[in-house]
Amino acid sequence: MNTEAATCRRCELGETRRSVVFGEGPPQAKLMLVGEAPGEKEDESGKPFAGQAGRILDKILEENGISREDIYITSVIKCRPPKNRMPKKAEVTACLPFLEKQIESIKPKIIVCLGSLAAKTIIDPKLKITEMRGKWVEKNGMKMMPTYHPASVFHDQEKMEAIREDFRKVKEVMELP
Ligand code: URA
Repeated sequence: MNTEAATCRRCELGETRRSVVFGEGPPQAKLMLVGEAPGEKEDESGKPFAGQAGRILDKILEENGISREDIYITSVIKCRPPKNRMPKKAEVTACLPFLEKQIESIKPKIIVCLGSLAAKTIIDPKLKITEMRGKWVEKNGMKMMPTYHPASVFHDQEKMEAIREDFRKVKEVMELP
């Protein structure tokens, strides 16, 4: 864990969090997944995607033969917002240097943005997830793809098929030399 993040007080979430959920995965991962923010289970365990959304994500990864141990998983903000409210703009801004450093040091070949916040933060603030999901964007020498957040499947089962389809494309690109 990044030592600066461990004691971070750059925003008010530092007062209510239990854990800083920095991210996990090998430092040389080819694929990086970026979610939105830790929820209750992540705050409790310190691990990203440790709750219900994580189970959906694990299922999709498994279906595509992608092992969690081989990929790096994190979120845009590293601390749980109270009652899982949306992260505030100021929180995203305060936390962004951590994500930028993660991307810079891992230099993944592929970044999958899980949900609108990650896609807007990493790819383009004007991006519309409904228009851009499943499409590749080349940026800073990396291939980036927005897809729906796994938690969106709880409200709309059809999103599961969309996320599945997107990860099939991700797997294909991972296998290219
Ligand atoms: N949702 C996220 O975006 N990130 C997590 O780590 C867990 C749930």
